Amino acid sequence: MKTDELRDAYLDFFVGKGCIRRPSDVLVPNDPTVLFTPAGMNQFKNEFLGIGKLEFTKATTCQKCLRTGDIGNVGVTAYHHTFFEMLGNFSFGDYFKREAIHWAWEFLTDKKWLGLDPNRLTVTVYLDDDEAFEIWEKEIGLDRSRISREDEYENFWPAGAPTDGPDGVCGPCSEIYYHPPTGGKEVEIWNLVFTQFNRVGSPPDNLKPLPMKNIDTGMGLERTAAVLQGVESNFEIDSLRPLCDTVGDVLGVKYDFSGEHGRAMRRIADHVRAVTMCVHENVLPDNKEQGYVVRQLLRRAVLEAYLIGKQEPVLHKLVPKVVEMLGKPYPELKESVGSVQSAIQEEEDAFLDTIERGLNRFQRCLDDAKSTGIITGKDAFQLHTTDGFLYELTDALAARHNLKVDRMGFEQLMEEHGIISNAGKQKSVMAEGPLDAIRKTSGGTEFVGYESSSCEAKVVGIIAEKQLVEEVTEVGHRDLIAVVLDKTAFYGESGGQVGDTGTLTADGIEFTVQDTQKDGDLWLHIGHLKQGTLKVGQSLKCEVDDERRHAIRRAHSATHIMHYALRTTLGDNATQRGSKVQQDELRFDFAQKKPLSPEELCRIEDIVNTHIAEGSAVTTKLMAIEEAREVGAMALFGEKYPDKVRVVSIGEFSKELCGGTHLANSGQVGMFKIVAEEPVAKGVRRLVAYTGEKAMAEMRNKETLLRDIMSELKVGSADEVLRKLESLQNELKETKRKLSEQMRQSIGDDVSNLLAEAEKVDGVALVAHFVPNVDKDVLRDYADRLRKKAPAAVILATDIDGRVALLAGVSTDLIKTKGMNASNCVKAAAKLVQGGGGGRPDLAEAGGKDPSRIDEALKAGLENFRSQLSS
Ligand code: SER
Repeated sequence: MKTDELRDAYLDFFVGKGCIRRPSDVLVPNDPTVLFTPAGMNQFKNEFLGIGKLEFTKATTCQKCLRTGDIGNVGVTAYHHTFFEMLGNFSFGDYFKREAIHWAWEFLTDKKWLGLDPNRLTVTVYLDDDEAFEIWEKEIGLDRSRISREDEYENFWPAGAPTDGPDGVCGPCSEIYYHPPTGGKEVEIWNLVFTQFNRVGSPPDNLKPLPMKNIDTGMGLERTAAVLQGVESNFEIDSLRPLCDTVGDVLGVKYDFSGEHGRAMRRIADHVRAVTMCVHENVLPDNKEQGYVVRQLLRRAVLEAYLIGKQEPVLHKLVPKVVEMLGKPYPELKESVGSVQSAIQEEEDAFLDTIERGLNRFQRCLDDAKSTGIITGKDAFQLHTTDGFLYELTDALAARHNLKVDRMGFEQLMEEHGIISNAGKQKSVMAEGPLDAIRKTSGGTEFVGYESSSCEAKVVGIIAEKQLVEEVTEVGHRDLIAVVLDKTAFYGESGGQVGDTGTLTADGIEFTVQDTQKDGDLWLHIGHLKQGTLKVGQSLKCEVDDERRHAIRRAHSATHIMHYALRTTLGDNATQRGSKVQQDELRFDFAQKKPLSPEELCRIEDIVNTHIAEGSAVTTKLMAIEEAREVGAMALFGEKYPDKVRVVSIGEFSKELCGGTHLANSGQVGMFKIVAEEPVAKGVRRLVAYTGEKAMAEMRNKETLLRDIMSELKVGSADEVLRKLESLQNELKETKRKLSEQMRQSIGDDVSNLLAEAEKVDGVALVAHFVPNVDKDVLRDYADRLRKKAPAAVILATDIDGRVALLAGVSTDLIKTKGMNASNCVKAAAKLVQGGGGGRPDLAEAGGKDPSRIDEALKAGLENFRSQLSS
């Protein structure tokens, strides 16, 4: 059975059992407790906790997951991946152990479905889970010898939860293993979790039965496909083997499972697949959080390729194959191939550069290590932090020279510096906060802000100083307060658009809303209570600051028009990377390597302004997500969209999935002006533009500036400004030239006088001279003329910007004949002005911090020359 068929069969089977088919969540979920989606259950945390209204009680999914906890095993063992897909079925207070076990068995063994030989399957249950044991033994008919009991670290989810936590819902599990006919190691293919407890605190008695018993099961898609296809590793299945072969093609080395480079090539296949999925969802290589993980994954892959001998970027060439392999379940991947490839290539280039540069330091470490045979942990750490050399690179290069690396020392330093990535680590699987309590009692907030900018509403929750409270009184000076309403006209910050501001009022009560934020289906009106007492249950009039909202609308509709203009001008690879919409101001980030030319910027501005002038209707329509895709609405990858999406269209040219607030007609934007074009990250650029009044004000400011410049330059028209500037510059050049001529003349006079008056020791003129406020070139000019005109040793000083510059010079002959040295002199002098320096024996320079002691410094310089002559 092909992998795509297995995915469909599983979902069909559970739909047949009454489960609702839900889409995969995105890879970076809206969940601060995890970096990446680690399991299918992650998107159902609220349902398990009984928070909010249940739309369904049974669900089935195929979830995109990313785990890096076992990264070391990828390519080595048969079944580990970073990115993988997990098939799941879930019950929220609906079916429980009996059905979960029976259905899993039916799907695995029934000939209509997978038809696996029951004799090749064994199961495990949690130590004291007699109920599960009996279902397996008595109802399924498995022999006792094929059911084993395992402890909480094997058969509880999360693993070890009873003893080690975290608090929250958890439960015993039962795992199903397949034993291959080849006699190879058994493989766990399915984990049935009986989510029946809420853990509270430490043992004993810390597992409280949940009122609702839940089911969370996970089946590894790639593993089960490997079993069904009778292959020994996930990397041999129909959706991965071709990718490994393509790795071979781009590296110019044939892929052979047990060949010299087999493991490395599997790692490349896995990592590039994971990175493709992440970059597609807008998670770009970066230095922190998810971006850090993506960067490290990609660098590991680049490193493997480098060690196989590919020193130029090639891994981006794998992207089309990854997309082809995953194209059926995730057709949207096709739309970003170009921009994903260029983001990957960019990072490949940068890292290959790093490798080349770091090789110098590595060579030094290598020389140091020759005597001991070991590269120290400190060296490996420095190579990692300063040169971006992964430990594996240092280790692999060291091995080529028969050296080892002190891994423990390296890891200790990494830990001391807090450099640990915790991708996919579940900090707290199911923590509840004050908002969940509101959600439980009153459900979500109803948003009526598309149709109107005011409404009547009731307070359902108040949060002051991070606590849920029943009421607050006039506390204008205290911390910000968040008010949750049953209904609101305020737009909560989302999709890049800022939150609304305005007021909540009732008789004797006034609350000013400074910002509106959204937490799931709850709207938080954040601000200060100016007057009265606000209580839960209170009715209020909520009114949005309409003028501000209108300016936000202008910026948002203009953003869509600009997005269209950008793609028309730069091509479809200029995919959106982020956006921010506020009053008459928009920021838009997009994939693009080179800065935009002035012509391109003008073109974009022209297209946008033409579409504004056209006065196209802006319309919104709710439709099913599939329908939206069919009509070609642009969506932001990596964003989780609901089943029914809002499609905002402007005329015939722009269609985007968007929850924001918009104008009725493009003409209302009024005016559009790009004010900045700048880099944001590697391969990502940003346009900043103004609309409406702000665009007008910006033009006026520029005009005022030009008028001020004209009056300052005393010219009558703008055209004259440049001519006038040119003539001023010429005047300045001429003045400078005259000045330096005069200076040279006066240095010439000074030099003669200085030599005439100089102290003579042993036929050598000793000169010490202070020239106020000149730059070092002038001192050098003095020194050169003095030491060329006569046998002389000179020490010169000047003060510029509160600092001291010293310069010593000696006639070249005197170096040989009398062993004189300018560098020694300048060092001796510099000490007195808190400075230091040095140079050649004939000319040396120093700086210093204390101009008040310049005299003493010059004396010390002279003294140094005298002693050079007497020794
Ligand atoms: N949450 C469980 C797991 O990840 C079952 O889906 O294994």
